[in-house]
Amino acid sequence: MTTYRPEKADELIQTARAMVAPGKGILAIDESNGTCNKRFEAVGIDPSEEKRRQYRELLLTTPDLETYVSGAILYDETIRQSTADGKSFIDVMRERGQVVGIKVDTGAKPLAGSDGEKVTEGLDGLRERIAEYYGMGARFAKWRAVITIGRDGRPTRGCIEANAHALARYAALCQEGGLVPIIEPEVLIDGDHDIDTCERVTEEELNEVFRQLYHQNVMLEGVILKTSMVISGKDAASRAGVEEVADRTVETLLRTVPAALGGVVFLSGGQGVEESTAHLNAMHQRHGDRLPWPLTFSYARAIQGPALGYWKGESANAEEAQKRAFKRAKFNGLASEGKYSADMESA
Ligand code: 13P
Repeated sequence: MTTYRPEKADELIQTARAMVAPGKGILAIDESNGTCNKRFEAVGIDPSEEKRRQYRELLLTTPDLETYVSGAILYDETIRQSTADGKSFIDVMRERGQVVGIKVDTGAKPLAGSDGEKVTEGLDGLRERIAEYYGMGARFAKWRAVITIGRDGRPTRGCIEANAHALARYAALCQEGGLVPIIEPEVLIDGDHDIDTCERVTEEELNEVFRQLYHQNVMLEGVILKTSMVISGKDAASRAGVEEVADRTVETLLRTVPAALGGVVFLSGGQGVEESTAHLNAMHQRHGDRLPWPLTFSYARAIQGPALGYWKGESANAEEAQKRAFKRAKFNGLASEGKYSADMESA
């Protein structure tokens, strides 16, 4: 069981290494149209297909982004789009030596029989969709499960097991088709829970995910884990500081994530922009020599936020918006080697 190698094992391992190459992380721009529109509307941008295209072009063509960004996760609409002068986004990325990724889940839906928990869907027809994306040039995929911490015993075992099982089925299909699966079991930051509760839930969730990956014959060397940090709930009465988040996150990962894994990346999950960078940096400064896997970022909001807020859908703002995206990518790239310092923010 443990020695199972998918047909494309060598290619998968190579892809995973490129995704988490030293000093780099992954840009997430795989918001579904609905989520992207919501973010646009919040800053007064017209939620149209053309605006989504312009925005993704702005981000993907940011000068020198490839220095700190190894690849990007796209959405189905985006992977089929091109720049205004007709170059496909896939070619834009490949020419910069970046790896193309694609979100393949179809969203978190209400889990039947539960009180408000969710299970992520998208397994039906997935083998065929993976084949199409691979043919287009994608080399990794993403599937996000959401785990809610709440009163009344949430998350339940039923929710944790259903999501972990789906993640493992997805991961096995990806590897069969030559895509490195990013498995993303996100423990949501929403709520007033303390960091102990987040740690306990994250540990339980990750243990179950790796158990299910084992049962589905997934080759860990060709998998990237995208996880939330161990952090206090957004509305907690007193929130843990940077060093505690860094320490608890690393300790929890060391207890639960096999050393053979291809790499670990973080989502930002509603943390502040600078906070997301500081947490990653502190993990490397305090524990860098103990980490058995590359540990870096795969942020969406923590990289895009400042750029989106500045752009506002106006072409005259595009260049400055790109500078803001680049700044976050660079600082997070530095943080992934413990070389960031808060003083750089004002420099
Ligand atoms: P955030 O960094 O905004 O949490 O997004 C990452 C992501 O890919 C969510 O699925």
